[in-house]
Amino acid sequence: MNRKKVIIDCDPGIDDSLAIMLALASPELEVLGITVTAGNAPVDMGAGNAGKVLDFCHRSDIPVYAGAGQPLVKEYINALDTHGADGLGESFLDVPKDFHVQEKPAVEFLAETLGKGGVSVIALGPLTNLAELIKKDSQAFGKIERLVSMGGNFRSHGNCSPVAEYNYWEDPDAAALVFRTLSEQNGRIEMVGLDVTRKIVLTPTMLAYISRLNPETGGFIRKITKFYMDFHWEWEHLIGCVINDPLAVAQFLDPEILSGFDAYTDVQTDGIARGETVVDSMRFYRRPANARVYTQVDVRRFWHLFLSRILSRPDGALDLIDSILCEEE
Ligand code: BDR
Ligand code: CA
Repeated sequence: MNRKKVIIDCDPGIDDSLAIMLALASPELEVLGITVTAGNAPVDMGAGNAGKVLDFCHRSDIPVYAGAGQPLVKEYINALDTHGADGLGESFLDVPKDFHVQEKPAVEFLAETLGKGGVSVIALGPLTNLAELIKKDSQAFGKIERLVSMGGNFRSHGNCSPVAEYNYWEDPDAAALVFRTLSEQNGRIEMVGLDVTRKIVLTPTMLAYISRLNPETGGFIRKITKFYMDFHWEWEHLIGCVINDPLAVAQFLDPEILSGFDAYTDVQTDGIARGETVVDSMRFYRRPANARVYTQVDVRRFWHLFLSRILSRPDGALDLIDSILCEEE
C-alpha cells in the first residue's frame, strides 16, 4: 500500500490522544513524527503524554519533537482546567522509562521533512509550530501536501469565548500567519472546526461498547476521558464529551466524512473577538479561498471508521454503533 506520509502536530491533550490512536491504527498512514506545541498542556507535559499514548499503542518507534513553549505574541494560558492537571484527564499514567523527546527542535524537523515535499500535516493544537516554520522556511511550509487543522468555527459559537475556538484563540497570531501565508501561496487549510466537531460526542454508552469489545482499549480511554466527561457535565450539561481532534484524522483518511465550502478566511488576533475565524462565505472581499470550511458531518461514518480502527475490527462487526447513535439522537 502506498501510505500517506503525515506529521501530527498536537498538544496532548485528551482528544489529541484519541486522534493519535486513530492515526496509528490506520494502515493508510505513515506517521513520520509527532511535533508538540504548548496548548492544552505545557509543551514538555504534552510531549510526555504523546510518549504515553505511543507506549499504549506499542509505537514507541515514532519520534516526538518538542516545539513552541508559548504562543508567538500572547501570554501562554494552558487548558489544564479542561484536560486535567496532567493534561491527560488526571489519569496520572507514568511517562514510559525509555521514552525520550528528540533533541532536534520541532521546527527543524518540520522544515527538513516538509521541505522534501509529499508530506501532509494534521494539526490538532494551536498553530504555533507551523507559524514558527513559516518564519524559518516559508518554502517548506508551502510544500505541505495537505494541511488539516482542528480549529476555528463558522456558525457555531466558540468554546472559550462567544466567538472563538480554543486552538486559534490560544495563539491567534500564529493562526492568522498561517491563514495569511496560505493566501499568499495559493494554498488551502482544511478547517475542521466546532461546527462539525461538536457533533462528535463520546457518550458513556459508546464507551461501554468499546470496553465490551476491547477491555484494554476501553479501559485506557475511560481513564483519560473521565475528567473530561465531568468537565462537560459541569460546563455544558452534556453527558459525555466532545472529542474534536479525531475528526481531523478521520477526515484525512476518508474525505466523505465532512463536507463544506471553500472561502477566504482570516483570524482576528486581538480584542473581544480574539481567535475568531472570519469566513467570507458571501465573497465580500473577492479574494481567492485559502480555506475549506467544513460544516456538515456524517456522524455515523465517523464512528464506524474510528471504532473499526482503534478496535481492529471489520466495520461489519460493529453492529451496535447505529443503534447507540439512534438512541442518543
Ligand atoms: C481543541 O482544543 C483542545 O481543547 C482540544 O484538544 C482541541 O484540539 C478544541 O477546541
Ligand atoms: Ca488538541
